[in-house]
Amino acid sequence: MKTRISKAMATRLIETGIALTSINNLDELLEFIVHEARGLTKADAGSLYIVNGSNLDFLVCQNDTLTRKVGADAERGLFTVYSIPVSKQSLAGYAALTGEALNFPDVYNLPPDAPFSFNKEFDRRNGYRTMSMLNVPMKAPDGAIVGVLQLINSLDHNGEIMPFEDDMVAVVQALASQAAVAVKNAKLTAALMDAHLDTIFRLAVAAEYRDQDTARHIQRISEYTKIIAKSMGLPGRDVILIGHASPMHDVGKLGVPDSILLKPGKLTPEERVEMEKHTVFGGKILAGSESEILRLSESIALTHHEKWDGSGYPYGIKGGSIPIAGRIVAIADVFDALSSPRCYKPAFPMDKVLAILEHDTGIHFDPDVSKVFFGNLDEIQEIHRRMKESG
Ligand SMILES: [Fe+2]
Ligand SMILES: [Fe+2]
Repeated sequence: MKTRISKAMATRLIETGIALTSINNLDELLEFIVHEARGLTKADAGSLYIVNGSNLDFLVCQNDTLTRKVGADAERGLFTVYSIPVSKQSLAGYAALTGEALNFPDVYNLPPDAPFSFNKEFDRRNGYRTMSMLNVPMKAPDGAIVGVLQLINSLDHNGEIMPFEDDMVAVVQALASQAAVAVKNAKLTAALMDAHLDTIFRLAVAAEYRDQDTARHIQRISEYTKIIAKSMGLPGRDVILIGHASPMHDVGKLGVPDSILLKPGKLTPEERVEMEKHTVFGGKILAGSESEILRLSESIALTHHEKWDGSGYPYGIKGGSIPIAGRIVAIADVFDALSSPRCYKPAFPMDKVLAILEHDTGIHFDPDVSKVFFGNLDEIQEIHRRMKESG
């Protein structure tokens, strides 16, 4: 088959390839792949299946005609995530199993000897007519099939349905291979990120357990700080980062002796000095990392006991010179500590907790952060209720 790819198309393919490498979020990436493939082939609709063991998970469905008919919001309700087996019985399954692209002008009139059939259920339910269809396997360079890209109803200038040109098959195959690499990378990145976050979380739990605190405390701190950061207008990325970094605020307690950390009564002034060192220990444990999350954790570990008026520790810095993340964790941590039971005290009643926070605003807490905290009190209390200590 001789392929004629126009210069404009080649340029678009290259641009798409570059764009593919910059998207890390898997869902976003899959939507983008279908969108670009549809743009190249002028397809009214498109779907994407990802290989999951011996199944194909149907994950993306875009359909201009149905979106116009029902609106974008309702459209999402039309498609449900489902799985089909990788087998010769379905068009997508066949493409995934054999690595062959399938191009048919009308899927209602498939060759009688074909092993696959077209499932008309979706069309029937939504009043749609699938006619021309191109199924292209997403093949990675090592030959593994990552998924199947399915393009539906190629449209001409007048919006009439026509077959997908044979030339297009090679173009979509090129895109599908690039997409396969991007999907593999995105999955790998997600797996690494999960492992990274899991390690961080376990480290934080280890530190808190020594202090009779709980894993729940850490999870709640993560949720509170995200709400406050978001409401303060921090960029979305920073909100996510603070949610991952804040659980490690007390990781330096790993360096405080048990005799002090677990002492039931009041600490002597010397013991207090030792206890306060958990901020500096935490900073040291977390220092020098390339990871953005760990760098933010370091800053939080060091500054979550600083106070707005400069009377905190370890450095006694004040006001805006305390990093914003430290100021946010300060109020979240105090709120959670006061409102939760500890081995040395019961939970304070909520009105008492709030009175203390209010009183300490401008002394301990940044007035702006405090304002946002109280502005989101319902949601914060809801998290506190939902993620209560168990047992
Ligand atoms: Fe602390
Ligand atoms: Fe804490």
